[in-house]
Amino acid sequence: MPYIGIVDDNPIALLHMRILLERAGFPDVRTHTDPRASLAAFKLEPPSVLLVDYLMPDLDGIELLGQLQAAGTTLHTPVAMVSGAEDLESMRLSAYRAGAIEVLAKPVNPQEFTLKVRNLARLSTVPLHGRFQSDFSPLVVPRSSRAAPAKTGAPRDDVPMLRMLEKVAAFRDDRTGKHTTRMAFYAAAIAHAYGLSIAQQDQLMEAAPLHDIGNIGCRDDVLRKGKGEQLDDEARVAMQQHTITGYELLRDSPSEAMQLAAEIALSHHECWDGSGYPLRLSGEHIALSGRIVAVADTFDALTTVRPYEPQWLAERARRVIKADSGKRFDPAVVDAFESAFDSLLRIKRHFDGGEVFAAVAASAH
Ligand SMILES: [Fe+2]
Repeated sequence: MPYIGIVDDNPIALLHMRILLERAGFPDVRTHTDPRASLAAFKLEPPSVLLVDYLMPDLDGIELLGQLQAAGTTLHTPVAMVSGAEDLESMRLSAYRAGAIEVLAKPVNPQEFTLKVRNLARLSTVPLHGRFQSDFSPLVVPRSSRAAPAKTGAPRDDVPMLRMLEKVAAFRDDRTGKHTTRMAFYAAAIAHAYGLSIAQQDQLMEAAPLHDIGNIGCRDDVLRKGKGEQLDDEARVAMQQHTITGYELLRDSPSEAMQLAAEIALSHHECWDGSGYPLRLSGEHIALSGRIVAVADTFDALTTVRPYEPQWLAERARRVIKADSGKRFDPAVVDAFESAFDSLLRIKRHFDGGEVFAAVAASAH
C-alpha cells in the first residue's frame, strides 16, 4: 500500500504535518518519532514519499537517510528534509548530499508544504492513489468559505450518531449535557454575527457539542481537577491531550458534521497569538470553527457555576473576553461576540430560566 512516511522526534510537529497531508487528501500517512524504529518499518515497506526531520537524538536525519540509502530502501523514494529555520542554511548541502530533493523549513507553511509534498508524490515510482484535491484544502476555514451542505431533503444518517456521541461525552464530564447544547447555541449566534450563512450556523451547532469528547480518554484524577487547581506538567500534558484524542476519534468519519467536529476538537484551545495547544497555531492558521467555539466555550464557562470555579456574571465575562481579543481570541470573532451579546443573554436566560440574567440583560442596554 503506497504511503507517505514522516520521521520527526517532535510529536506535535509530526501531528501537524500528518493533519495537513490528510486534509490535502493523502490517504495513508505513517509517522514515527523514533528514527531507529522507522528504519525497520521502511526496510519492510518503503514509503512512496519520505519526510525526515534533520535534528533528532540518537540518529539525525542525515544519518537516517544514509542508512536507508545504503540499504537501497529509498532508491525509488523522493525524500524531503524538514528542519527548523535556524539550521536550514548549515544543513542544506548535507541534506542534498544525503539524497534529499527538497528542504522544508519548520514550522511548515501549510500551503507550501502540501504543494511540495504533492510534487514529490508525482516523482515517486510507487504511485500514491488518493483523492488529491486540485487546490489546497486548508486546515484554516477562511471567513464564509466553508461549503454549505447540499439541501437535498434526504434524511441524514449521521444525526443519530452525533446525538449518541454527545451522550458518550456527557458520561465523562459533569459539565457536558446542558453545557454543550447551550454552548452550541452561543457558537451559532456568534457565527451569525460573524456573517456565516444559516447552513454554516447549523453545521456549527451540530458539531460544537462534541468539542470536548476527547475527555473520554482523560484520566479521572486529571479530569476532576478544576481550572482553579494547579496542574503539574504531567497532568497538564494529559489534559491537553483531549484535543488530539477528540480529533483522532472523529476524523475518519465520512460525515461532514463529524469532520467539522474533529476540526473543532483539535482547534478549540489554540490561541490567536500562538500560545495555545496542541499545535500552537496562530491567527488564521487556526480553523474558524475552533476560534468561534473558543469564545462560546469561554463565555459559557465564565457564566456557569462549576466545581472549584466562581460564578462570573455575563458582563464580567464580556470584559474578560474583550481583554483577551488578539491574545487568546480572534479579534473579529470577539467583535462578533460583542454584536451577539444580547442574543447570548437571551440564550442563557432560556436555558437557565433565571432572573439573574434578566437583570444583566436589562443593564446591558
Ligand atoms: Fe476543551
